[in-house]
Amino acid sequence: MSDTQPAPSVFGVADVSVRFGGLVALDAVSFAVGHGKVHGVIGPNGAGKTTLFNVCCGFVRPDAGTVLRHGRPVSPRPDELAGMGIARTLQGVGLFRGLSVVENVMVGADRHRKAGFGSTLLALPRSDRDERALRERAMAALAELGADGYAARLPGSLPYPVQKRVALARALASEPDLLLLDEPASGLGHDEMTELGALIRSLTARMSVVLVEHHMDLVMSVCDKITVLDFGKVVADGTPDEVRDDPAVIDAYLGEEATHA
Ligand SMILES: Nc1ncnc2c1ncn2[C@@H]1O[C@H](COP(=O)(O)OP(=O)(O)O)[C@@H](O)[C@H]1O
Ligand SMILES: [Mg+2]
Repeated sequence: MSDTQPAPSVFGVADVSVRFGGLVALDAVSFAVGHGKVHGVIGPNGAGKTTLFNVCCGFVRPDAGTVLRHGRPVSPRPDELAGMGIARTLQGVGLFRGLSVVENVMVGADRHRKAGFGSTLLALPRSDRDERALRERAMAALAELGADGYAARLPGSLPYPVQKRVALARALASEPDLLLLDEPASGLGHDEMTELGALIRSLTARMSVVLVEHHMDLVMSVCDKITVLDFGKVVADGTPDEVRDDPAVIDAYLGEEATHA
C-alpha cells in the first residue's frame, strides 16, 4: 500500500500570526499533533504560548494562518470545542466557585452544552436519567484523577493541586479525542508533576494531547514532539532529543534566566 497517503494530523495550526497592536505575539507558527501523540509547546515567559493556546481554543482569532482539525481548516469557538471532541484546561484553575466539585465536572461531561451551561446547570430541569448519567461520568473522571473523595466539596476549599486535578477531570469528562492543556504543571510540586506526566502519557491510549508548558522537565519526559517558541517565532521543532541540545532553545531559556536574575 505504498500509495496510501499519510493520515492527516488530528489537529494543528499552519502559519498562524497574531498581533496585539504593534506587538507580534505569534509570527507564522505551525505545528501538528498526530493520533495518540503528545505535542509540547514550550518557551520562556512571553514567548506566545498562551496566545497560541487561545488560537487553538478560539479565544483569539489569528490575523493570518489556519487552525486545522483532521487536516481541514476550522474556526474553533470556545463554546463549540466539546462538540468537536476537544477539551481544554486553562492556565490557573477556572472552576466555578459556587458549584461543588462534582457539579463542576458535570459541566464538562455534557458534550453538547451551549455557552453559559454552567449557569444553567442548576436552573434547567433535566430528566433524572440524564442527570444520573452525567453524574456517573463526572464521578468516573474524578476517580481517574484520584479526586472522587472531594466530590461534594466547593473548589475554593481545596488545596491548589487538587483544584488542578478537578479542572483536568472536568476536561476529561467530555470524553475528548484531543486535550489542550495550558501550563497544567504551574503551581505543582515535583511529585505532583511526575504524577501528572504519567497521567498524560496514559491518556494517549484514547486521545491526543497538546501540552503548552513552561517546565522543560515535564515536556521533555512526556512529549513525542515539541515546538519551541521564542518571541512569537518557532526557534526549534522536533523530538525531545532533537530540541534538548539545540542552541536556539538553550539561548531562549538562558536569556530568560538572565532576565530573571
Ligand atoms: N491580550 C493581549 N493584549 C496585548 N498583548 C498581549 C495580550 N496577550 C498576550 N500579549 C503579549 O503577547 C506576548 C505573548 O504572551 P503570551 O502568549 O501570554 O506568552 P506566554 O504564555 O508564552 O508567557 C507577550 O509579550 C504578552 O505581553
Ligand atoms: Mg502563558
